[in-house]
Amino acid sequence: MARLQLARRTERLKSSLVRDILAAAVQPGMISFAGGLPAADLMPALPLAATADAGLYQYGSSEGEPAFREAVAGWIGETGLKVSPDQVLALAGSQQGLDFAAKLLIDEGTPVLCEAPSYVAALQVFELFGAKILGVPLSADGPDLAAFEARLREDRPRAVYLIPCFQNPSGACYSMDARRAVAALLDRYDTLLIEDEPYRSVALDVDQPMTPICALLERAPWIYLGSFSKILWPGWRMGYLAAHPALMPHLVRLKQAADLHTQRPGQMAVAHWLGSEGRAADLDGLRSGYRLRRDAMQTALQRHFGDIADWTVPRGGLFFWLRLRGELEATRAVLDQALAQGVAFMPGEAFFAEPELGRQCLRLNYSRSTPEEMERGLALLARCLHEHALATV
Ligand SMILES: Cc1ncc(COP(=O)(O)O)c(C=O)c1O
Repeated sequence: MARLQLARRTERLKSSLVRDILAAAVQPGMISFAGGLPAADLMPALPLAATADAGLYQYGSSEGEPAFREAVAGWIGETGLKVSPDQVLALAGSQQGLDFAAKLLIDEGTPVLCEAPSYVAALQVFELFGAKILGVPLSADGPDLAAFEARLREDRPRAVYLIPCFQNPSGACYSMDARRAVAALLDRYDTLLIEDEPYRSVALDVDQPMTPICALLERAPWIYLGSFSKILWPGWRMGYLAAHPALMPHLVRLKQAADLHTQRPGQMAVAHWLGSEGRAADLDGLRSGYRLRRDAMQTALQRHFGDIADWTVPRGGLFFWLRLRGELEATRAVLDQALAQGVAFMPGEAFFAEPELGRQCLRLNYSRSTPEEMERGLALLARCLHEHALATV
């Protein structure tokens, strides 16, 4: 074969560890805590009748179906962020919005500030376009504000990427004080915010408002990303963005250049579901199911990890984030050992631009396993961690 001549940026195209692990995790008999897949048995039925109109199978508009944009503007409005339908763009999953944000904002060497840890596939696309990722430490209710301000002041990032509701991977959920403080700092340093919220509706116990930070900004520009993947089947690839009006023409052109428009039947099904009377009951059912699984995972974790790790019980989202104590590490090497024994998890290093920061961390998904699998899988995993630690002393 002739030598492949590829764009220079492909040298930065890392394979996503998540995808590699997911491929291993589907082997028969594997207990997987690795992915972020929603639970199939809890997903609501989509109103397929709404997709029957043959007219929907023709090309459509790049911005999205008017009914979808209208319904999504209302849905976003329920969070406290008021947007007009003109500010909404239908996406093929919110991941596409991360791709557009990267194309719009990142040149080689552009500084982008992210939570440390952050979402793997966001780091992947930002790095592909050449971003210099800057990290800010995160606790259960928001970022370290002094470190956040120092980064804005000294490194002048062109954009800040945050997941304030049930963050992937850490489960952190920003307090209102943290949201206000972050918004004030972004305004002060006039820095663009990319706010990503795929888990907002997977809220299990929430006793505080979760106003989007975009709604609290007075002058900084913003892009707000949302998704139906975690509440209405990810295979539909239905997501959306809303943005500051000055950014919309650029984002619509990026959409045209990427794939002309988002599939129309899915937009109509989602618009119909958003307007349906059953929507609240669907979400309640989903949350009750997740709550039971989250609690079962907590019980099994206390039994098998109580002496070896620290964690905060997630109040929403799909993950537990553990920090191991002492000499224990959850690196790629431990992963290979665990996979060989039939259990998959996500090593913490995948979630940091500086992987060594995550050596003692691991992410565990709780939405797809039965209580019996949690028991068996966590016992196996704890044993692998101990064996690895003994082998490396
Ligand atoms: C933080 C975060 N953003 C974006 C996405 C992408 O979701 P979608 O399926 O809407 O593309 C995910 C998926 O897991 C995620 O965790």
